[in-house]
Amino acid sequence: MRIIYSADEMQQIANKYRELGKKIGFVPTMGYLHEGHLSLVRKAKEDNDVVFVSIFVNPLQFAPNEDLDKYPRDLRRDEELLKEEGVDFLFYPAVEKMYPDGFQTYVEVEKLTKVLEGKSRPTHFKGVTTVVLKLFNITKPHRAYFGKKDAQQLLVIRRMVKDLNLDIDVVGMPIVREEDGLAMSSRNKYLNEEERKQAVCLYKSLKKAEELINSGETDAKEIIDEMKKVIKSYPLAEIDYISINRLSDLEELKTIEKGNTLVSLAVRIGQTRLIDNMWF
Ligand code: PAJ
Repeated sequence: MRIIYSADEMQQIANKYRELGKKIGFVPTMGYLHEGHLSLVRKAKEDNDVVFVSIFVNPLQFAPNEDLDKYPRDLRRDEELLKEEGVDFLFYPAVEKMYPDGFQTYVEVEKLTKVLEGKSRPTHFKGVTTVVLKLFNITKPHRAYFGKKDAQQLLVIRRMVKDLNLDIDVVGMPIVREEDGLAMSSRNKYLNEEERKQAVCLYKSLKKAEELINSGETDAKEIIDEMKKVIKSYPLAEIDYISINRLSDLEELKTIEKGNTLVSLAVRIGQTRLIDNMWF
């Protein structure tokens, strides 16, 4: 595996593979890799001739009060994991290279980003779409892989790709979980022992929603109320939001629409904000 620091060099490599008629698979990440990230890498390996992974902790998607400075990093370990998966190129740019002095162009998906995570994090998705479009232009993938863990992010990227006529197939992958159901996340590292135990409440509340929906409940408010009860039985958990939305446009739903419903939530466990969701 080669590590590439320069966007120009990464583009030249992408051009070379494209000229040879090879399919490029791309997995953008912020590093501190876990099995969730690696599941995307494995699928990219399966589907494509060459796989590029990026590690870039993107300052643009963190608000000033968020965890940019303490976001966990471990390049050596990430490198080893990616080598083991047979990744061909790791793109690892410096912040000053991605956002040099004078940088002033942004991409914004307007409506989908106003709800859910966008309400709590109003500048977040503008940072995500801007960096992802840059990374797409640098790595020139045929296919790009995103986790359903960040459901809204996946939908926002799909919207951007459609609206801007990007010739990229966006592949959405299932959420990878720990044994007790906690969705894998680089941020789980922030949790102390007791917080880690209680972090399972997100999954437990989603399982409650699943149980209710499977037994025929269609009233969104009923389901949200039951999910709240589950979360409230964990003393360290503080709900940011629990929401039921239509997957196609993220409009809030009063009644479950089978096959088109996203149940999602954000919960603070101590200082750590966690998100999770299920698709119905
Ligand atoms: P990051 O949080 O590192 O996640 C990189 C990719 O891994 C995302 O597509 C995310 O949804 C996926 N992922 C994370 N945890 C997962 C899990 N438990 N199961 C399945 N997939 C999981 O998301 C970002 O980085 C950034 O916003 C980025 C897209 C790289 C732009 O900066």
